[in-house]
Amino acid sequence: MKDIMVKDLTVKFKDVVALEDVSFELRPPFFTTVIGPNGAGKTTLLKSLLGMVPKEKGEVSVFGIDPYKRPVEIREIIGYVPQIEKIYSPVPINVEQIVMMGIMLSRSFPRIHAKDDWKRVEWALDKVGLLNLKKKPFHELSGGQQQRVLIARAIVRHPRLLLLDEPFSGVDAKVQCELVSLLNALKLEGISIIMVTHDVNTVSAISDYLIVLNKRLLAFGKPKEVLENEEVLRKVYGPAVKIFHGEPCPSVILGDYHA
Ligand SMILES: Nc1ncnc2c1ncn2[C@@H]1O[C@H](COP(=O)(O)OP(=O)(O)O)[C@@H](O)[C@H]1O
Ligand SMILES: [Mg+2]
Repeated sequence: MKDIMVKDLTVKFKDVVALEDVSFELRPPFFTTVIGPNGAGKTTLLKSLLGMVPKEKGEVSVFGIDPYKRPVEIREIIGYVPQIEKIYSPVPINVEQIVMMGIMLSRSFPRIHAKDDWKRVEWALDKVGLLNLKKKPFHELSGGQQQRVLIARAIVRHPRLLLLDEPFSGVDAKVQCELVSLLNALKLEGISIIMVTHDVNTVSAISDYLIVLNKRLLAFGKPKEVLENEEVLRKVYGPAVKIFHGEPCPSVILGDYHA
């Protein structure tokens, strides 16, 4: 089984149920978007693919690898951009050093540079269009540029799957569009993507799959089909949500209510 498979997955933190009986399958290469209200288990779902959260029941398989049984191997094939990350450092750390962290943190001690490491860093920075900023201190970059650096760090070891947790928070609409085209370009190179976002409109046209989550799987399928279902979207965005039935995909128009 070389796809992504999640079957009857239940994740609990003590007595809090974060995911309940979630099942779906994804065929690579794909762009998958995950939406759901706060606390719906979206971050937990991404972490379950890395085997990082307590599994009560069910199965997870990522390109044939069970992350709960083979945690080291899973990190070879998945790149992860966590939800909002502040990088604290007593000394200013520059862009290429951040990307190098993506290689070094995966290596066991002693963490010695291999010959090709800096080449890989350059490759990743080139992919996200920031090679010219490689010597810049990270904290001097804009929000969108920082997000690109974190994507470069996540792809530096050529993963087959890239997980992104709300990469659009704090970036404006123009930068969102730039990030979307970057992610689409990565997909065309064979890196499958699973992204958690609030703004389904920005990505619905390029998503192969849309997952609507609220602990349980509320809907799963092609965005066009899922977005036709107002009832499901009301569960995510509140009762005032409206659907604009445009092409290539319907858009979600939010009312005053916020879930
Ligand atoms: N490490 C944890 N310990 C205890 N509870 C957690 C932990 N991580 C998440 N939860 C709980 O699991 C539920 C789902 O959280 P999360 O996956 O972060 O939701 P989302 O990303 O959709 O906002 C929430 O109720 C949250 O409080
Ligand atoms: Mg989250």
